[in-house]
Amino acid sequence: MDRLLALDMVRVTEAAALAAARLMGRGDEKAADAAAVNAMREEFNRSDIHGRVVIGEGERDEAPMLFIGEEVGKRSPTSIRCDIALDPLEGTTLTAHGDNNALAVLAIAEPGNLLHAPDTYMNKIAVGSECADVIDLAASPTDNLMRVAERLGRRISEVTAIILDRPRHEELIAEVRDAGARIRLIRDGDVSGAIAAAVPGNAIDILLGTGGAPEGVLAAAALKALGGGMQAQMVWRSEEERSRAVEMGLTDPDRTFGLEDLVKGDCVFVASGVTNGDFLQGVKFTAQAARTHSVVMRSESGTVRWMET
Ligand code: FBP
Repeated sequence: MDRLLALDMVRVTEAAALAAARLMGRGDEKAADAAAVNAMREEFNRSDIHGRVVIGEGERDEAPMLFIGEEVGKRSPTSIRCDIALDPLEGTTLTAHGDNNALAVLAIAEPGNLLHAPDTYMNKIAVGSECADVIDLAASPTDNLMRVAERLGRRISEVTAIILDRPRHEELIAEVRDAGARIRLIRDGDVSGAIAAAVPGNAIDILLGTGGAPEGVLAAAALKALGGGMQAQMVWRSEEERSRAVEMGLTDPDRTFGLEDLVKGDCVFVASGVTNGDFLQGVKFTAQAARTHSVVMRSESGTVRWMET
């Protein structure tokens, strides 16, 4: 993928982060999300791409903008063709509460290379590069924690798992506690959680549990560039949902997806902090200015570039 395009895309997440951050703590998820969506779309349309949203705000009838299938960018005959996975505001509730780890995020890849994940749940396990080859979604959480501890040369009590704080994770949390590992429970934002597990120096070693499937593809794009490891499996809420996904082209819907199944080939991942987080600062407003903090990752080169703007 074009190197300059990666830098162009950071303008897109910066714009979304700036717009959402103005509504931080206002208790209005919808307004914050809408502000991020509008800003992201406007900025996309300034860049010389012909992009197709494959993971977006939802299906066309539910989402007026940045819906799945929407085309964005200048769309001239010479524009770069790409598929886009995006979440203008990952952590709408976090933003509405002024809580940590809300991001504006997107990933781009060559057409056809991003899994068209349906809007359902996904069981995920994500780690950094040192542990990329030891995880196994088919094994128990305890086994995975033991393998990670062994690989990192630590006691299990020195390994930290990040898990979404949800009633559906009651058993998982109990098992991780029994195994003796540390837990960081998060209110929302498992894209940020997966990245935190893969960015060195974060004191988080593994993401476990079920979150959104579209968020799984976004996390996979970042982990690819970071050299991390990830495995995932769809968690269907009904047989109807599963059949629909098959009709839409998802083959073998119950299999375990690896990084290469979620994101084929090379990709660019970009995120800007909306609120402060584990690896990005939130937007700061100063007199007549604002400061954003972003990360741009390219899987082709493995470049991870931190940008303050
Ligand atoms: P939103 O920003 O769309 O609210 O998503 C936040 C999030 O926490 C994701 O990070 C996560 O994958 C998903 O919601 C989990 O879904 P649920 O809240 O239904 O458990």
